[in-house]
Amino acid sequence: MREANRIVAVILDRLAEKVAPGVKTLEFEQIARRSCEEFKVRPAFLGYLGYPFALCCSVNEQIVHGFPSERVLQEGDIVSFDMGAVYEGFYGDSARTYPVGQVSDEAKRLLAVTEASLYKGIEQAKSGNSLYDISAAIQNYVESSGFSVVRRFVGHGVGRNLHEKPEVPNFVPKGMPDVSLRSGMVLAIEPMVCVGTHEVEILADQWTAVTKDRKLSAHFEHSVALMSHGPEIMSRPS
Ligand code: MF3
Ligand code: CO
Repeated sequence: MREANRIVAVILDRLAEKVAPGVKTLEFEQIARRSCEEFKVRPAFLGYLGYPFALCCSVNEQIVHGFPSERVLQEGDIVSFDMGAVYEGFYGDSARTYPVGQVSDEAKRLLAVTEASLYKGIEQAKSGNSLYDISAAIQNYVESSGFSVVRRFVGHGVGRNLHEKPEVPNFVPKGMPDVSLRSGMVLAIEPMVCVGTHEVEILADQWTAVTKDRKLSAHFEHSVALMSHGPEIMSRPS
């Protein structure tokens, strides 16, 4: 899983280098696919429940699961890349959101708060804590910053499958039993944060999730191993 996630981080680095006004989002798909061939990994999302690309590329009000397309990035956009790879049967999964050229102060703050909320969650990912310590840390940080967390999509265990138990919500669900965290678990923690409402709509392509109010949303994700000495971020760029 370290290797799968190391490769995912390298691919995300390559995508990040190419972010600029004028770039077609399909170009990022090509980089992702070619990189998977080069590193001899399988793109984890391609074909998963019928998802038709290796990469999820979500712009502005798109929260997650956006399709790479002929859409051209514009100055002021924000773009999130979500990438998964399978190495020798083990999954890596990570996402980041980037500004395109100069963006608004609100967009800058959204990116900073979303990324920081991921690290607040990761800090809690240790044996002795419970799952919802992660959820509460993310939710409290995001909401006290004046933004909202998406309910409709959550993080997850990751390992020999992309999505394993438990679900890792970015909010504390009411009436759902909490679980104890143990070292040896690997969790994909992935806050999706919105400037306005956290309510989601799915576009006619059956995948692209957008905010109901069409305001901005950002997404950051790491695969995190719960080691006896604390959390290890496997998808951290080296
Ligand atoms: N990081 C997302 C997730 O863990 C990406 C899934 S995209 C899909 O759910 F196409 F694979 F569904
Ligand atoms: Co994930």
